Amino acid sequence: MELCVALDLPTMEENLSLVEKIKDYPIWLKVGLRAYIRDGEPFIKALKEINPGCRIFLDLKLYDIPNTMADAAESIMGLGVDMFNVHASAGKRAMQTVMARLEKYEKRPLVLAVTALTSFDEEEFSSVYGEKIAVKADQFAKDSYEAGLDGVVCSAFESASIKSITADNFLTLTPGIRPFGEDAGDQQRVATVELAQDEKVDFIVVGRPIYQAEDPAAVVEKIIQKL
Ligand code: C5P
Repeated sequence: MELCVALDLPTMEENLSLVEKIKDYPIWLKVGLRAYIRDGEPFIKALKEINPGCRIFLDLKLYDIPNTMADAAESIMGLGVDMFNVHASAGKRAMQTVMARLEKYEKRPLVLAVTALTSFDEEEFSSVYGEKIAVKADQFAKDSYEAGLDGVVCSAFESASIKSITADNFLTLTPGIRPFGEDAGDQQRVATVELAQDEKVDFIVVGRPIYQAEDPAAVVEKIIQKL
């Protein structure tokens, strides 16, 4: 299992200062929509300057018509990131088109699909997708697997069951982790490192428990020791 730290601080300076504090660890860094829209490619370059060994997950959750998603995926290739994601609900054909477009590259980032956003409750979800969350999330996972993606973003509680309907090596990346049972904040259901391990999760995403800590490096160290 690997640790991915969410860079969700309000300014680029604060994010870079966090990265500086935790640069000695073999971690992934998650760049989300806000940071990327505001700070763009120079931010990605700055992360690599501070920590040349880090790997970067660009969490932009692409959703558009197949050709536009594939164009965007190809532009992402130029950023030198190591992982990005798309919405599985964009459809199997869109995901296949993205993967086909990246085929010509000898080395490409990992591509994950978001199954169901955890912010939905059943009622809202069914008004959008006409189905129960669990049923549709399984179908989205199968679609992503069949489209040739590398894995899915899902809840830690669903990881093992998704692997059982796809493949053991189909990657799972799970937010909503409170490594040692810290405050859940606005997350509905949170999992500890141990639960994630039991669920065969491949990547845990941790934000607030690290960047709100007085000593972020100490928290990273404690998590890494458990992995
Ligand atoms: O601070 P915390 O550890 O809760 O951060 C989790 C990160 O994972 C945030 O960047 C959040 O946007 C992201 N995320 C999530 N739930 C999802 C998808 C992404 O918490 N379903």
